Amino acid sequence: MTIELAPSILSANFARLGEDAKAALDGGGTLLHVDVMDGHFVPNITIGPLVASSLRKTLPSAILDCHLMIENPDDYIPAFAEAGASWISVHQEACVHLHRTVQLIHSHGCKPGVVLNPATPVHMVDEVLEMVHHVLVMSVNPGFGGQKFIRGALQKIKTLAELRESLGLSFRIEVDGGVALDTVGDIVRAGAELLVAGSAVFGKGDIRENAKKLLAAARAATLTRA
Ligand code: DX5
Ligand code: ZN
Repeated sequence: MTIELAPSILSANFARLGEDAKAALDGGGTLLHVDVMDGHFVPNITIGPLVASSLRKTLPSAILDCHLMIENPDDYIPAFAEAGASWISVHQEACVHLHRTVQLIHSHGCKPGVVLNPATPVHMVDEVLEMVHHVLVMSVNPGFGGQKFIRGALQKIKTLAELRESLGLSFRIEVDGGVALDTVGDIVRAGAELLVAGSAVFGKGDIRENAKKLLAAARAATLTRA
């Protein structure tokens, strides 16, 4: 299980997005987490396919991990795929026909992920675990960066890791919200491997150094994993 850092551009300076994103990748980030919000599914509006497309042009080899916090995601999946998204994840809570939506993402050549809000139990996605590339556990209520880590996410990560093992599946486990130096150890020990971090990377100080330190702390924690 390889630990990877996914800097969330939500906390970057959008007036210099390309430079900030590059700095985070220089610091060891291997995925760029792109938070898409529509002002309906979550109480905030962020970016659409145009920005994903600009990032794709500026960073041709970056893995763009697009996290759709929107209603009716099926309507936008083709546009994000066209814009250059590598991975697309959708919320279980936003998908009436989740199985179909996962297939749709796959059919557009992107790696499908499913996301669980803090109040959604893991078992709501049991039936798609064998179809998805990653399961994203929200450890804050989606909508904003800089919120406090919800510790109940740790048990969900453990449950997912156990399910993966017992079912012989290979989906990856991602966590999003409040990932920082003081939480990353417990998160990694619970079994998460893809670590989304916004304010801990872009919030203050040097972006490259922040990413480096967070990744080092995460890797160190793997040594104390049960
Ligand atoms: C929140 C977003 C997150 C956000 C995390 O709805 O999905 O990706 O950027 O921000 P931090 O790392 O600051 O909690
Ligand atoms: Zn996110």
